[in-house]
Amino acid sequence: MTQNQLRLGVNIDHVATVRNARGGAYPDPIRAAKLAEEAGADGITAHLREDRRHITDADIDGLMEALSVPLNFEMAATDEMQKIALRHKPHAVCIVPEKREERTTEGGLEVAREENRLAHFIAPLRDAGCRVSIFIAADKKQIEAAHRIGAEVIELHTGAYCDYHAEGNFEARDRELEALRDMSAYAHSLGLEVHAGHGLTYDTVAPIAAFPEVRELNIGHFLIGEAIFRGLTPAVQEMRRLMDDARA
Ligand code: PXP
Repeated sequence: MTQNQLRLGVNIDHVATVRNARGGAYPDPIRAAKLAEEAGADGITAHLREDRRHITDADIDGLMEALSVPLNFEMAATDEMQKIALRHKPHAVCIVPEKREERTTEGGLEVAREENRLAHFIAPLRDAGCRVSIFIAADKKQIEAAHRIGAEVIELHTGAYCDYHAEGNFEARDRELEALRDMSAYAHSLGLEVHAGHGLTYDTVAPIAAFPEVRELNIGHFLIGEAIFRGLTPAVQEMRRLMDDARA
């Protein structure tokens, strides 16, 4: 992988959502992860939520065993999740905010508000060799706090940008894109590795992929949905192509 190349992390949570709708074993998120890997994913992302609504503990065991590419383990900053992460020691851990009542991860983490607690929370994860990433909005205050607590990576929340695009509110979309661009450059200037994700689709990925500071995109829901129509392998390959074209 060259310095200019952008990694694609495929989030397989929603294969588990479909499986859990019936409570059986199909479709299998591990099989999806292996297919995504073969199709060009550089990593697999999975979010073990407190309520286990999609990914389960057994899925994490299976992913750790089966994957040849790194696992990015998304988790809330709770003692339970820290224990699980320390048991598995995945390549990467991404700390996300989590509310039981939300449908998906709605906003970024409020790092600035609980800086002390988070600094203590991520220290053992870093000591265990996990690359710690913090999922935040494009907000200078949060980026500076993430830097102060010792995170190596920030993942910028692209959800608002994608929502504005879907609503046809292009003025707001472009304002959000500008903030994401500025904050990618700012975070990079502090020495943080910059990732981005949430809500990205074929229509919205290119402007984000074109930010030179961004090193990784994590994409899930759209790809799993698109896989219904064209299959997971072509769905991932097309995302990979759009990312590479935007970068070139
Ligand atoms: N990055 C983070 C930190 C997330 O929490 C999620 C959703 O689980 C994603 C990326 C992927 O978002 P989406 O499924 O909307 O592509």
